[in-house]
Formats: sequence, C-alpha cells, structure tokens
Amino acid sequence: MTAPLGPDGLHPAHLAEISARSARALEACGFDSLWIHAGSERTAFLDDQTYPFRPNPHFSWWVPLPDAPDSLLQIRPGHRPRLLFHCSRDFWHLPPSLPEADWVRGFDIQPVASWPEVLAALPPPDHRTAVLGEPVPALEGLAPAVLNPPTLLRWLHEQRVRKTDFERACLREASRLGAKGHVAARAAQDAGDSEFGVHQAFLAACGQREMELPYRAIVARGTNAATLHYQNLERARPGKPTSLLIDAGASFRGYGSDITRTRPARSGDDFAALVSGLDRLQQSLCARVKAGLAWPQLHLDAHHGIASLLRETGVLRISADAAVDSGLTSLFLPHGLGHLLGLQVHDVGGFHDAPLGEAIPPPPRHPALRLTRRLQEGMVVTLEPGIYFIDALLGPARHGPKSSAIDWNRIDQLRPHGGIRIEDNLLVTGDGSENLTRQAFAALSS
Ligand code: GLY
Ligand code: MN
Ligand code: MN
Repeated sequence: MTAPLGPDGLHPAHLAEISARSARALEACGFDSLWIHAGSERTAFLDDQTYPFRPNPHFSWWVPLPDAPDSLLQIRPGHRPRLLFHCSRDFWHLPPSLPEADWVRGFDIQPVASWPEVLAALPPPDHRTAVLGEPVPALEGLAPAVLNPPTLLRWLHEQRVRKTDFERACLREASRLGAKGHVAARAAQDAGDSEFGVHQAFLAACGQREMELPYRAIVARGTNAATLHYQNLERARPGKPTSLLIDAGASFRGYGSDITRTRPARSGDDFAALVSGLDRLQQSLCARVKAGLAWPQLHLDAHHGIASLLRETGVLRISADAAVDSGLTSLFLPHGLGHLLGLQVHDVGGFHDAPLGEAIPPPPRHPALRLTRRLQEGMVVTLEPGIYFIDALLGPARHGPKSSAIDWNRIDQLRPHGGIRIEDNLLVTGDGSENLTRQAFAALSS
C-alpha cells in the first residue's frame, strides 16, 4: 500500500488545476498572458527598516514561498509557468536561494537580480497581458488598462473559492499547528501567565515567528475580550484567575487557520455556563454546514440561538424572537458568523456567487457579514459565534428606548468577563463538512 500524499505531493495536481482555472479566466477576460508580481518590501518613513513582507496572495496561489519579494510569475496558457526568482546580490542580508522543494519541477525558474533584468526577460507587454500586483515603479510604464483589471480579479477570486486537494491539505496542517499552539496557550493560562506569556507559548508551540502568523493573534483576558480585535498584550501576570479569549492561527505554505477558544476563570459560575451554552450552539451550527446551505440564514439562526442563551441567562427580558426582530442581539454579536478562509484569513469571494454577478449584500441589520452566498463543496469557512459585553454598544442602549428589554444587573455581573467567541474552521463537503479544528484538537489529545 502506498502512503497518502502529503501536502507537497499534491502540489503538481494543484498546479495543473489552477493552470486550467486561470486559462479559463484569462480567456473570459480577453488576455493571453498574466504576470503576477509577488510584491516588494516596504520601508518605514525616514527609516531603513522594512515592514513584515506579505506576498500578493495571487502569487502565493501558485508559488508556496512566503518570502520572495520582487519575484514575478509569468503565466501563459499552454506553457509551463515561469518564475523570475529575485536573488539580490546583497551582502547585508541573506540572499534568497533558489528553492529546492519538489514543487519547483512544475516551473521554469530563472534567477534575476534587478527589475531591469526582470523586464529584459519578458516580452514587451501589450493590451493582452494582464499584470496583478501592487503598483511598483518598475511597472509604472504599463498601460493602465492591464494593471489589476477588476474583471479578471473577480474571475480569479472566484477560482480561489473552492480549494484544491493541496490547499485542503495545507489548511489541515495549518489547523494542526494552530491547535498545538492553543493547547500550549491553555497550559500557560493555567500557569497564570500574562497575555504576553500566553502569546509566547502559542508561538513556541507552533514553531512560528509572529510575522509568520496568518493574522495578529488576539489574547484577551477579562474585559479585554470585549474588544473584538484587541491588539494589546499585557505583560503583567494577573493576580487572580480571569477568563481568557484567544483567537490565534498558524500558517502552512501560505494558508492559515483561524481558531478561537474562550475559557472561563472557573467552572460552575454563570459565565462558565454561558461559555458551555455557546459551545453547544456553535457545534449545532457546525452540524448544519453542507453544500447548498445559504450562509446568511445560518447567521440569522445563530442570532436566534444567542437570543435564547441570553434569555436563559437572564440578560434578556423579552422573547428570543422579539430580541432578534428588534436588532437587540446585534449589541451582543456585532460581527458575522464566519467568512471564507484560505491564503487570506478573510479570504476572497464571499460576496459573489458568479464571477460577473452582482455583489450579494448582507442582510440590512447585519452589515458585518462577510459571506453572503450559498456554500459550495470545497469552500473552507470559519464558524464563530460570539457573545460580548461591549461598553460602546451597551452604553447607548442602556439609556435608549429598548433599555427595559435588558436586565442591566446581569450585564454588570457578566461584563468583567469581556466576551466569548468559539471559532472553528470547516471544509464544506457535498453532504456535510470536515471540522478541521475539532479534528486537530482530537488528534492531539488521542
Ligand atoms: N481572527 C479574525 C477573525 O476571526 O475573523
Ligand atoms: Mn475568523
Ligand atoms: Mn478569528
């Protein structure tokens, strides 16, 4: 019996598949060839230090290299992709060396050391050559019509929505690494570490530098969890146990995981019961994920589930239906139920179900929803309901016309815990889904 192929063994089939998808997109948009620029390093104002490099995700779709600034890919349907790989002659930094991985066999690779060398290696572009990438001075002379054509971008974004087997394997591995980080973070929380200490434990267990993570991790104790994208890391160890929300993922070959867990300070109290209730709700929503499901409906159903939980907890004094209908649940869950995940943590393609179709708007009361279409086999989505006690939203409501619908004493009891989010990543299959996150945690504990 032959061993199953690891992610890298699946790259040749991925390359063949995305070559075919890209050829269709180019033909539909009237182009014969495509140049994809990886991006350039950016220098801080009045400084010689660069910001962390983030490659153009269209480049990463082809080339699984996180660090190839100023490289350029030339795609011509019917030909092997050609990678002009930038190896600067620089004695200050370690020059990139030509990659030795197996995936290089699918490319014609030519080292280049400067933009003039890149341009000399390419035919002069014409109106049938599209260029994707951030504007760089060397490409400024190109006709504006060919730089990042919106219609082609829409087509290619649609092609990135259904993940190939290689991408699915990379996302599984990113989940496995992220789950390892979360297990270590949990131990650090139990040891009484600060937010900073928990973050360090996460990085060490993933084996990744902060700049390698798919997004800036959120490590939030107590009331800090009420800030949805809390970006601070307190250095002080807490004097007593506190709740902790950690939203952190790892990367693999450019693909990310996006995982959130919330742990109460102690078991048996009202906040712990709310965390367990939200976990049960999250799993019941996960169980409904399958191809064909209209995501906005699942989002609205999540609001009904959260209204029921808040009513059981004594926060709401009106019925769950009335709370959803009057928009009150959005005070507690102001973000969307989830989003597409891939090379970008908020991946492209969430708002259109066809390359040239109109954008599908989110429901009027739920403008933050980033995924408004039906699910398809091969999509990877996050599913992340939350309940937060956010002063900026609750403060005005306390003095507004719906104030009597809320028990403010219960809010005051719960607000020291900040909030709860539970977030898994799911691969949509024809008749259900594969929960990449829960299976990664289960494999670590078996
Ligand atoms: N970590 C960002 C998000 O959950 O969307
Ligand atoms: Mn997310
Ligand atoms: Mn997240």
